[in-house]
Amino acid sequence: MKINETYETKILRLNNETEGVGIIDGITTFIPYALPLEIVKVKIDNMYDNYARGTLVEILKESSDRIDPVCPYFYKCGGCNLMHLNYDSGLEFKKEKIESIFKKITNENIKVNNIYNGNNLYYRNKITLKVDKNKIGYYKEKTNTLIDIDKCFIVDNKINNVIKDLKDFINNYPDNEINEIMIRVIDNKVMISIDNISINYKDLFIDKLNNLDSIYINNNLVYGEKVLVETIDNYKFNISPKSFFQVNKKVSKMMYEKAVSYIDKSDITLDLYSGTGTITALLSEKSKKVIGIEVVKEAVNDANNNLKINNISNVEFICDKVENKIETLKKLNIDNIVLDPPRSGSDKKTLKSILEIKPNKIIYISCNPVTLARDYNVLKEKYIIKEINAYDMFSNTYHVETVMVLEKKDV
Ligand SMILES: C[S@@+](CC[C@H](N)C(=O)[O-])C[C@H]1O[C@@H](n2cnc3c(N)ncnc32)[C@H](O)[C@@H]1O
Repeated sequence: MKINETYETKILRLNNETEGVGIIDGITTFIPYALPLEIVKVKIDNMYDNYARGTLVEILKESSDRIDPVCPYFYKCGGCNLMHLNYDSGLEFKKEKIESIFKKITNENIKVNNIYNGNNLYYRNKITLKVDKNKIGYYKEKTNTLIDIDKCFIVDNKINNVIKDLKDFINNYPDNEINEIMIRVIDNKVMISIDNISINYKDLFIDKLNNLDSIYINNNLVYGEKVLVETIDNYKFNISPKSFFQVNKKVSKMMYEKAVSYIDKSDITLDLYSGTGTITALLSEKSKKVIGIEVVKEAVNDANNNLKINNISNVEFICDKVENKIETLKKLNIDNIVLDPPRSGSDKKTLKSILEIKPNKIIYISCNPVTLARDYNVLKEKYIIKEINAYDMFSNTYHVETVMVLEKKDV
């Protein structure tokens, strides 16, 4: 195999990041946008110790699962990875991805029960876009190349309206200082947040950008509503710019309800990495007491306000790192633990404490099957998998959300 040479190969499977995998001259080769069973021509771009990467040059035999991407930026942008594959096959890919990661990391043959899905387009309620003079869009994956966009096919169309206004704005003010903008839409209300710019932009934004309900500059509210309010079941949740909130309401609602349904009536439930307290609120119906732990101060403030507006009196939030606090809770009678850590997963100290607490059930919610499987390797000392379900929270990307229910072995 030689760099810049073109080869013909059959695609055997997709890797975890949806790149086609072929074997050329005995070397595993990753080819973005090639699909399983296709026969393709590929130009070799890079060779490493035991693999190579190439560019898809021509499809000689096309997969029947291939579709035309709805988004004109798909092959340039890199924000989405699956728009060239029909949606059902993409869902199947995600299920199999979780199973194969578990096989590799835990050597167990797990079965994902189901993958729940919502709308695969226009679903995101929040995005962060890069701005460079009169361009606005995403950085192409793993580069600093800004892909200038007019709209994004996976975000709420209210966000697309803001992008349209922003495009006019930056075209009129190409010397603007904006580097990055966060846009969030909750219950049809629009919040924008921009850091590292002068407060003087406030009046321009109010004048030139339509239908904004909340503007934050440098983390200070300069116009409109302090928080946006989301409703899930009978609960309302205040959300400020820095607070975590799932990006796909329809799918997160299904996921939260299912996760909470595993919890039997109990004494104390821990909700680790509790964010703005969404799961915590739902859990409050099932337990005498729920304790949430979350490190971001703004999220805990929102979470405490959420308790007030929902008249919940059996929840306590601790603002700290889970690993700093969990040991102090060991003596309590904790029946269930729900944990929903960031992509990096939980940590050894926390997992050890969970094993010592020995709750009846552990509900582990994860946006990264690799760290989920890694952490399960620790928890399986005392727990078995009762059920795993997947959620297509991030449609058209290779990301997938997983809910794993663990039960104590000796129950
Ligand atoms: C995936 S989010 C889950 C939030 C919440 N369960 C929800 O569904 O809205 C992970 C949360 O963990 C928080 N976090 C990250 N590292 C943490 C740590 N070491 N200790 C406590 N919270 C942490 C983040 O701020 C974020 O709110």
